[in-house]
Amino acid sequence: MEQQRKKVTVPDLGRMKAAGERITMVTAYDCAFARLLDEAGVDMLLVGDSLGMVVQGNDTTLPVTLDEMVYHTRLVSRGAPHALVVGDLPFGSYQVSPTQGVESAIRLVKEGGAQAVKLEGGLAMADTIARIAAVDIPVMGHVGLTPQSVHRMGGHRVQGRRHGHAPGGRERVIEDARAVEAAGAFAVVLECIPLDLAGEITATLSIPTIGIGAGKDCSGQVLVLHDMLDIYPGRKARFVRNFMAGAPSIAEAIRRYVEAVKAGAFPAPEHTF
Ligand code: KIV
Repeated sequence: MEQQRKKVTVPDLGRMKAAGERITMVTAYDCAFARLLDEAGVDMLLVGDSLGMVVQGNDTTLPVTLDEMVYHTRLVSRGAPHALVVGDLPFGSYQVSPTQGVESAIRLVKEGGAQAVKLEGGLAMADTIARIAAVDIPVMGHVGLTPQSVHRMGGHRVQGRRHGHAPGGRERVIEDARAVEAAGAFAVVLECIPLDLAGEITATLSIPTIGIGAGKDCSGQVLVLHDMLDIYPGRKARFVRNFMAGAPSIAEAIRRYVEAVKAGAFPAPEHTF
């Protein structure tokens, strides 16, 4: 008899890390794709502010507003009876003060139906993470390449390659990840950092790490939907695999992604820095 699938919860993710089960996450921006991803067994849907680039056609994520994130989060929540929905806090909706962060996070949960929120930044955002977590909204951190810092970084560049405590330095990425955990986040995205650095952080932290361009040793993986389905024009990032190649349908492409991540077959060395 087929087992009833239950909704994925925040405590489930901690148990998955402890049990060595890899966590799958994909971005979603509307109900139709959320349904396909949910039915294919994806554990978490991220309503990412990447929608500013892949849906709205901007060059960066910076123009996305909180109202837009609330709207897209509401659409995704309707199509996700099983996957945990994480709403991304856009640029300008949490950097002013921890109070602003709490207010914005409440909107993503109350109006968008998210079960958790994500924000970018480590040490500098620790107070904000702690304040949001203190009102029982689960927070996911995001360190390494943080796209909202594109102008400081001088582009979307791999982080943690050189040693140092300044932003972008290897030791700083570790400090940022530790600060996120200490502040009470339930998980952290590691974006575009070398394989060995992501492995070290994953082994050090007790919360799950979700990698994108961070190699196979993270607790789970996330990809931008439009990248994995090859519907975003332009040069593909090294860490992206086109799961539509050879797949007879979008649903099958997503199932292949889930299988590949769960089996540890994606990301492969060629997707890694
Ligand atoms: O906005 C987004 O899609 C993200 C992922 C790249 C992790 O933050």
